[in-house]
Amino acid sequence: MCGIFAYLNFNVSRERSYILQLLFNGLRRLEYRGYDSAGISIDFSHEASTVPLVFRQEGNIETLVKSVYKEVGATNLNLEESFSTHAGIAHTRWATHGEPAPRNSHPQTSDLKNEFLVVHNGVITNYEVLKETLVRHGFTFESETDTEVIPKLAKFIFDNANEEGDKSMTFSQVVLEVMRHLEGAYALVFKSRHYPNELIACKRGSPLLLGVKELTEQTNNGTSFNDVKYLSSNGQPKEFFFSSDASALVEHTKKVLVVEDGEVVHLKDGGASIFKFNHIKGKRGGTFTRLPSIERALSVLEMEVEQINKGKYEHYMQKEIHEQPESLTTSMRGRLLRGGSCKVKSVLLGGLKDHLKTIRRSRRIVFIGCGTSYNAALASRPILEELTGIPVTMEIASDLLDRQGPIYREDTAIFVSQSGETADTLLALEYALENGALCVGITNTVGSAIARNTHCGVHVNAGCEIGVASTKAYTSQIVVMVMLALAIGGDTLSSQARREAIIDGLFELPSKVKEVLKLDEEMRDLARLLIAEQSLLVFGRGYNHATALEGALKVKEVSLMHSEGMLAGEMKHGPLALVDETLPIVVIAPRDTCFSKQQSVIQQLHARKGRLIVMCTKGDAASVCVGGSCRVIEVPQVEDCLQPVINIVPLQLLAYHLTVLRGYNVDQPRNLAKSVTTQ
Ligand code: UD1
Ligand code: M6R
Repeated sequence: MCGIFAYLNFNVSRERSYILQLLFNGLRRLEYRGYDSAGISIDFSHEASTVPLVFRQEGNIETLVKSVYKEVGATNLNLEESFSTHAGIAHTRWATHGEPAPRNSHPQTSDLKNEFLVVHNGVITNYEVLKETLVRHGFTFESETDTEVIPKLAKFIFDNANEEGDKSMTFSQVVLEVMRHLEGAYALVFKSRHYPNELIACKRGSPLLLGVKELTEQTNNGTSFNDVKYLSSNGQPKEFFFSSDASALVEHTKKVLVVEDGEVVHLKDGGASIFKFNHIKGKRGGTFTRLPSIERALSVLEMEVEQINKGKYEHYMQKEIHEQPESLTTSMRGRLLRGGSCKVKSVLLGGLKDHLKTIRRSRRIVFIGCGTSYNAALASRPILEELTGIPVTMEIASDLLDRQGPIYREDTAIFVSQSGETADTLLALEYALENGALCVGITNTVGSAIARNTHCGVHVNAGCEIGVASTKAYTSQIVVMVMLALAIGGDTLSSQARREAIIDGLFELPSKVKEVLKLDEEMRDLARLLIAEQSLLVFGRGYNHATALEGALKVKEVSLMHSEGMLAGEMKHGPLALVDETLPIVVIAPRDTCFSKQQSVIQQLHARKGRLIVMCTKGDAASVCVGGSCRVIEVPQVEDCLQPVINIVPLQLLAYHLTVLRGYNVDQPRNLAKSVTTQ
């Protein structure tokens, strides 16, 4: 979805070409989130004043880059001109209100002179009312966006204050006033020709980070730093960055401030002032107080630059599939305890230890998520039920909201989300909080809205996932939820052997995933075979019902081939009618408690001359294909509850190769965004 990037250099000379490159690179880092247009604003000095220039284009970042350089050439704008202080803003837009077009792209502007400019993530829900008022006051609108009301409102407020003789209104006062009128979810960055070399950011709902880089920091070895010094105007040369995504910041600085809801951050004279909006309960609007810098500590990003580069791989999805042995290891690090004097094997989830008693007492556990995160929860449901004895129900977040399904105080609601920002899951969280449930998050993004707003939770720690198709987050989510089941489940004598077997299995899992990744070539061959197919069915059951859904989701979302994951137990209740000699069908049949039932499914499909691809445990090829011929994918066997982690890997590889062979965009599939921040 939309992405924000902004850069302000203070007391350090930067050429225009450098600033442009930095903004473009920021946008490239945001590309993976999905977008259909982009824009930037930089300054131009004209007759002793600073005039913001705006460049906007439909299409990809490279189209924007080309158009900017073309315009720069045509207007003789000097690329080598240096600015000791300069404020630039940039944006990638994923169309919601109005088609992808330059006029609807951001920055949106107040007027032809670009007195106020805004880049915006989120949705302004009361924009129509605001627009009507502004039109009544003589404003004309050029876009169909909800965003355009924001810069125009800023100009309206600024002009009114000036007409009334108040020439002292600061940039933050203008923005604070604008914010008072806005409803909805947003992260905003403002730039203005009235306040050159200043930037203001604020947010409510959508994520936003401030990155700070003090250019003399080498002197303190980067080991310790003083937040107050970083945020105060001490004249030191500094660089500030705003971004909606940590991956656009990490190459510049790891020192960040996670902007909280209701906060306004004003960058001016090398310092950052932070204001807090205080709601007046029961009324619209509220008051603002200025927070002393000391109240807002900077945090250090736990992300490495390598994580956001493709390394030796051609695509992020490919890289993320292949790095699963490492991401799984990181997800388990410090959380599995084995050996020691008492030789007890156990699990320690730091974020949950104080809440386990409450969870154990809950009447029901409700898993809530969307897409792949929902599938990961589904894969973990049987082991949670088995080890805890608590009923576990599944909710797709949007469906729970549509039905306003019952959630009780005695429930534990577990919210599963890679990004931690998915709108449906976030709204379902608000709903569950209102209903008094204990809310637990399973999120991959530290500082995300779901991580912050849940009562407690577990970070998945799979590392930054950039490919729109979720792969390594899925397997890490399952592993975290298996650990969750072990943590909640009582350590009874009867379950001890099973628990220990699972913990041993978790320790061995990364090496088993390494083994299954060796099927890469085989999956490419299979993809060649299936390249021209219209459709693919995937049948699974038990632990691997989720594998069928997730495998099919991967194939459809990236290779754009129709694919359905189905519960094999439902086959005779409809899907069997589809079976013929041409339709390829993957049947997942590992050696678990469902094995004999899956054997019978295979026989029934053979009897209808089905075109089968069977995924089975290593060594089972001959026994699974009784009654007809089929192609076999043999995978290593692990503990049943961990088998979905192994079994999804060949299907991820298949989806990847199908996409490459069919010539589609692997990392940014058509129409999709990495985090779906609108309903
Ligand atoms: C934490 C530290 C980790 C450190 C470890 C060792 C963080 C983010 N993690 O990991 O760097 O190495 O202690 O002591 O600083 N939470 C939610 N909702 C969520 C996810 C998490 O409320 O969706 C909360 C947890 O309840 C917890 C905190 O966030 O209070 C950190 O969670 P997590 O990172 O999972 O904790 P540890 O694994 O203990
Ligand atoms: O960030 P989340 O885990 O909340 O995202 C949920 C879904 O949007 C996401 O899993 C989506 O289905 C992926 N594109 C699947 O690969």
